[in-house]
Amino acid sequence: MNETTSAFVAAPTAEMMEMVLPNDANVLGNILGGKVMHLVDICAATAAVRHCRRPVVTASIDYLEFRHPIKIGEMIIVKAALNRAFKTSMEIGAKVWSENLVTGERQHTSSAYLTFVALDEERKPVIVPAYQPVTPEETRRWHDASIRREHRLAIKTRLSQRKVE
Ligand SMILES: CC(C)(COP(=O)(O)OP(=O)(O)OC[C@H]1O[C@@H](n2cnc3c(N)ncnc32)[C@H](O)[C@@H]1OP(=O)(O)O)[C@@H](O)C(=O)NCCC(=O)NCCS
Repeated sequence: MNETTSAFVAAPTAEMMEMVLPNDANVLGNILGGKVMHLVDICAATAAVRHCRRPVVTASIDYLEFRHPIKIGEMIIVKAALNRAFKTSMEIGAKVWSENLVTGERQHTSSAYLTFVALDEERKPVIVPAYQPVTPEETRRWHDASIRREHRLAIKTRLSQRKVE
């Protein structure tokens, strides 16, 4: 039985790191929010593909917050991990840090939750492998993902059903 056919597989993760350069920054010398989103999307998609071994699309990004700026010359570090696999979708949690290479100081600057949908050869949603959390922390994230999914889909349903006058 290989990884794609086993009942449960380990939580996949991904990590990216790069130096903030002037081209990525605003007039204040801080990284652009869009650049952070770009890296978060790629890193989280990597974790999702590592789980399902399929092409994925980003269905939603929520709770992306910016707690502190990251300055030119600092490192931006993004880590992503699978929180929960649903039917064809997966929630990935991503966390971002800045690192000052000279002082070694690290700050947690952003967090986000992203939903990816796996696609088959006809670009239709396809069932992803099951994922069973093991550690207490993985189990907490697994439960929390379900609560966020309920909210996400409830909002989508309510907005699609509302009558515009
Ligand atoms: C995401 C997408 C594939 C969903 O297609 P769909 O026809 O709504 O498919 P379904 O209704 O069968 O839903 C498929 C899955 O997406 C999930 N989903 C749909 N809309 C969602 C949303 N707004 N947020 C989170 N999950 C969502 C559903 O819950 C379902 O998950 P499940 O199978 O685990 O229960 C489709 O909307 C799409 O292709 N969007 C564009 C994606 C894109 O271009 N992203 C940016 C670049 S990658």
